[in-house]
Amino acid sequence: MANILEKFFNDAPHLRRVGNAMQLIVDGKPFIVLGGEVHNSSSSSLAYMEPIWPRLVSLNLNTVLLPISWELIEPEEGKFDFALVDGLIEGARRRDLKVIFLWFGTWKNAVSSYTPAWVKTDLKRFPRAQDERGRNLNSISCFSRNALEADSRAFRLLMRHIREFDEKEHTVIMMQVENEVGLLGSSRDHNPMAEEEFAKPVPEELIEYLKANEKSLNPYLRCIWEKSGRRTSENWREIFGFGADEVFMAWHFARYVDSVAAAGKAEYPIPMYVNAWLGPSAYKYEEGRPGEYPSGGPVARMLDIWRAAAPHIDIISPDIYREDFTSVCCEYARLDNPLFIPETVRDERSAAYVFYAIGQHDTIGFSPFGIDSIIEPEKHPLSESYKILSGMMPIIAKYQGTGQMVSFVDDGTYGYNHTISFWRVGRVRVRGFSCELGDYQLRISFLRELSERARVVSPGILHECRVPAAGLIIAVKNDEYIVAGINFMLRFLPKDNFSSNVEILWVDEGTFKNGLWIPERRLNGDETGHGTYLLFDEKPRVRIAKVYSYPHLP
Ligand code: DGJ
Repeated sequence: MANILEKFFNDAPHLRRVGNAMQLIVDGKPFIVLGGEVHNSSSSSLAYMEPIWPRLVSLNLNTVLLPISWELIEPEEGKFDFALVDGLIEGARRRDLKVIFLWFGTWKNAVSSYTPAWVKTDLKRFPRAQDERGRNLNSISCFSRNALEADSRAFRLLMRHIREFDEKEHTVIMMQVENEVGLLGSSRDHNPMAEEEFAKPVPEELIEYLKANEKSLNPYLRCIWEKSGRRTSENWREIFGFGADEVFMAWHFARYVDSVAAAGKAEYPIPMYVNAWLGPSAYKYEEGRPGEYPSGGPVARMLDIWRAAAPHIDIISPDIYREDFTSVCCEYARLDNPLFIPETVRDERSAAYVFYAIGQHDTIGFSPFGIDSIIEPEKHPLSESYKILSGMMPIIAKYQGTGQMVSFVDDGTYGYNHTISFWRVGRVRVRGFSCELGDYQLRISFLRELSERARVVSPGILHECRVPAAGLIIAVKNDEYIVAGINFMLRFLPKDNFSSNVEILWVDEGTFKNGLWIPERRLNGDETGHGTYLLFDEKPRVRIAKVYSYPHLP
């Protein structure tokens, strides 16, 4: 029996470390989520979903993220109805899509609006968080044992049901536990239960975590701990000073969410993650104090607290609507936390961002929010990006964690120096990206910049770029590269900039199907500046280029 269970759990979707990367394994193979999340209310009705499914297929998604709410599966206490869950799984199966369910339980966007009526209306049994003046907030207190037990039971039964319904097909590949938790309207819960906890010493486990990880702690957390002289045995205020409220809430929210996840994993241990309503960034000045954004949520500066408190949560994910997309990815992608982006913008930028997230951070997946609002999928550049990336999936998986794959995106910010450089192209200086890969130095110029600068010199030149520059490059040999992307120019140079001439020997454009290359056009002449560059325009494309060099002097 133990063996059968073990085999069954090994077959279930799980995470596996490969070098520095973490991969999601589905049916024995690495799987990168090329996803989209529907609007909050769409998946509450199978009929409403009907016209949406074909659009998801035309967008070339392989996975859809669907909310499941507590109020709908347990409308009356103890009476569960999973018909909607089954219908959604079947709907996805018919379209060959995988599913990630979002558990809208005790909290969704920091409030408790998705709890069933029998929870919402019983404030005695399910007390609310309170602000500093003792006023009830619209969020159930994370110190409520009753709420924790009720939520954990519902989630556990949901996971049991998913296992029973889906154990052969593995349509459901991950679960999001709650949604953008944290407390709004006060930096800390002042409910009497919370006050009692706040006066107690900081738990030993958290102190042990801080000591064991002091070198890699998020800079903000390290700073507030250092300010107290790295105390280890007092209460929250003494150890974390002005940051105590947020750290305290993060610990308790994370413990709560961890218990819910643990209850679900006891039934069906597929990967589980939380998503963050972002707070201040270490790399970009942002207004906002805890309570103005959800206090205690898994914001970047609370990542360590969440890691220490929530061992059953596999991934802490950012919802990225902010402009500095690359900085946010860099903050969340850590050795102890693979990157997964469950929500981001669904406009043209998404078609570019996905290359960066996959190539630079080995992301588990990428998913624009409100995907069902894309009414004409064939006109959206994301569908082409997803098509290219899904054909390349076995190749990408092979190169994850090897250091032979790089990517870049122009998110319009200068958040990270390594993503931006200036290059002179003819008479203009343009923004771009550079790196060494294989035997050569790669210099990338962003086409939007190039067109804008070039227009000053020669009015009317070049095209408009709706989509930001982005690309993913793999060195399959020291002198051979797979290059995919959009709106950039790539040139190759010797690593020392001057010792030889470097040119393109040949370059083919084509497609990947299941990792197999199908060449189409051979590019040369005007299309490559006679062997001096690769030019990627508005339509995402993939090419393979071989490069060679020869000395300046005979
Ligand atoms: C973030 C939330 O997590 C989503 O469910 C949705 O409400 C979006 N915000 C709306 O932009």
